[in-house]
Amino acid sequence: MLQGKKLLITGVSSGIGEETARIARAQGATVIGVDVNPPKVEVDQFLRADLGERASIDALLAQLQLLPYGLDGLANIAGLPPTRPAPQVLRVNLVGLKYLTRGVLPKLADGASIVNLASLAGVGWPEAVPAIRASESLDFESVEAFCAAHGIEGARSYFFSKEALIAWTLQNRWTWRARGIRMNAVSPGPVDTPILQDFIETLGARAEEDMKTMDRPGRATDIAPVVAFLLSDGSGWLRGANLPVDGGMHSHILVQQHGL
Ligand SMILES: NC(=O)c1ccc[n+]([C@@H]2O[C@H](COP(=O)([O-])OP(=O)(O)OC[C@H]3O[C@@H](n4cnc5c(N)ncnc54)[C@H](O)[C@@H]3O)[C@@H](O)[C@H]2O)c1
Repeated sequence: MLQGKKLLITGVSSGIGEETARIARAQGATVIGVDVNPPKVEVDQFLRADLGERASIDALLAQLQLLPYGLDGLANIAGLPPTRPAPQVLRVNLVGLKYLTRGVLPKLADGASIVNLASLAGVGWPEAVPAIRASESLDFESVEAFCAAHGIEGARSYFFSKEALIAWTLQNRWTWRARGIRMNAVSPGPVDTPILQDFIETLGARAEEDMKTMDRPGRATDIAPVVAFLLSDGSGWLRGANLPVDGGMHSHILVQQHGL
């Protein structure tokens, strides 16, 4: 339950973020929603921000500073699909997400929970470690040069953004332990939201095949309750975890990979 929690949820105007806001409020949380588009779901406060722009995030952080209370949770759900230009995908899905999270940290209450919306698309992160290491110093201005240096173009930007996000979540398992602040990730397989079509367009036959293997794509209502659980005190012993919420796809990949 999220009774009494003050939560900051990004990507609140569509899909998984919208459903997470709905569930969180139904469980008694106060929700501050962030998105570049206006929300359809009811929130306690909406703050418009473009999470791919440093100045816009700075303005958002300044508004958050004025809140008379600390935040009990941050759900980083906003994200762009692989059909968008590679530098923009990296700015929103990785650079902006990390910049916002670091900026919000002083405003988080002790014991707060941070949840990152990663993806099954990030499952290959161990093979991308050199580029992930190089991305640790990535900022808004250096994204184009980074993409050129690491051959990140087209849909690869989306995969890389999620690989690096999973790695960052694991790396930060204990970073804020003294304050009881923990960070975890959720990795859905394909989910039926407005960006599902973008994935099908990008991945073609593979996406269709994956969805047949899974028997159906996920729904926002399959993913949001898991995000809500990670925001709740019941998940307090989960630190740096990346939870696959994909109808069994991650297990399927693992057993096939290891010949089981
Ligand atoms: N749908 C899927 O198949 C799927 C699978 C795995 C992971 N995910 C991840 O889940 C998250 C939510 O995706 P969704 O399926 O709900 O997509 P969605 O498009 O329905 O929602 C994404 C939200 O993010 C917002 N957003 C995009 N760019 C922004 C920016 N620059 N600043 C502020 N807000 C911005 C959009 O306005 C939108 O409201 C994303 O991070 C996505 O990568 C989705």
